[in-house]
Amino acid sequence: MPRIAFLPGDGIGPEVCEEARLLLEMVARHAKMDFELIESPVGGASLDKHGAPLTDETLAACLSSDAVLLGAVGGPRWDDLPLDKRPEKALLRLRKELDCFANLRPVKVWPQLRAGCPLRADIVEQGVDILFVRELVSGIYFGAPRERRTRPDGVVEAVDTEYYNTAEITRVAEVAFQAAQRRRHRVTSIDKSNVLETSRLWRETVAEVGRIYPDVALDHQLVDSAAMRLITHPYRFDVIVTTNMFGDILSDEASVLSGSLGMMPSGSIGSKGINFYEPIHGSAPDIAGKGLANPLATLLTVGMMLEYSFNLQHEARRLEQAVNAVLDAGLRTGDIMQPGCRQVSTRQMGAAVRERLA
Ligand code: IPM
Ligand code: MG
Repeated sequence: MPRIAFLPGDGIGPEVCEEARLLLEMVARHAKMDFELIESPVGGASLDKHGAPLTDETLAACLSSDAVLLGAVGGPRWDDLPLDKRPEKALLRLRKELDCFANLRPVKVWPQLRAGCPLRADIVEQGVDILFVRELVSGIYFGAPRERRTRPDGVVEAVDTEYYNTAEITRVAEVAFQAAQRRRHRVTSIDKSNVLETSRLWRETVAEVGRIYPDVALDHQLVDSAAMRLITHPYRFDVIVTTNMFGDILSDEASVLSGSLGMMPSGSIGSKGINFYEPIHGSAPDIAGKGLANPLATLLTVGMMLEYSFNLQHEARRLEQAVNAVLDAGLRTGDIMQPGCRQVSTRQMGAAVRERLA
């Protein structure tokens, strides 16, 4: 029986994960299979209970599973802790321990939510369908040294290190090119090679991998102008491959195109056969526990899990159709609310999707 490590975490994490759990139960019934959910604390929830954002038990549960689903971590209660104790540390360590190096973040504009997109209609109407492939376990997030120190003259300084090697760049580039082969055969690699040595290596290495995929068109863009073009010509992008830090920033920027962070799923491919799934919205402590959170990002994240971990492509497509139908019916959580639509709670939204699936 496939095992799923189930880590609701903090803030709105538990609410949206509950809808994911109910959805997984339903899919299991239909697909005549069983998922074993192993629930474990992570982030602030784990800090409160065990004094650490990630315990050995939670890590072991993840390492012995077929897939990991995480809701969200973090919140103001734990903001003043040192970096090493912060809830986010659990997320970073899990990604690293599972070696989930390729974070896939699809960005699309749901036609029903177009009005919520701040871009001009004539831009959005040309069709936005982008797949971010963000390197997730290296770069400035993990490079050493990273420290704060005091100089002999008393001035305090801090350093982080951007690091990449060719093996790390090659494997994430391969994921991007292979994804492009199943899409519109275009990869844009984003770097800052006019300034950074790591970016020069990034560009050369991606170009080399590109030679193995002659059917995929490759272009390189500098991150500053790419940030601009994501807004002026989002329809020109197909697959974007980039570093951990640039991917973090640009994927939040691009999420605005989809109308809300609450619509953005993500899945990370790991080298150990255990993929890591998380909605990208974070813990949203301001609305936590109020039934206001949008569960669709998490449900779509489950869709990515069905597709990438359990080979249930058909179920994943049906789930996407169900989300589409719910949006067509005018049901909206607060983040995507529009005039003339009906505002529903987290639970009602989850139930509406399951109803369409049934
Ligand atoms: C994301 C988040 C995380 C990141 C934070 C919470 C550590 O912003 O998944 O994009 O920076 O990777
Ligand atoms: Mg981010």
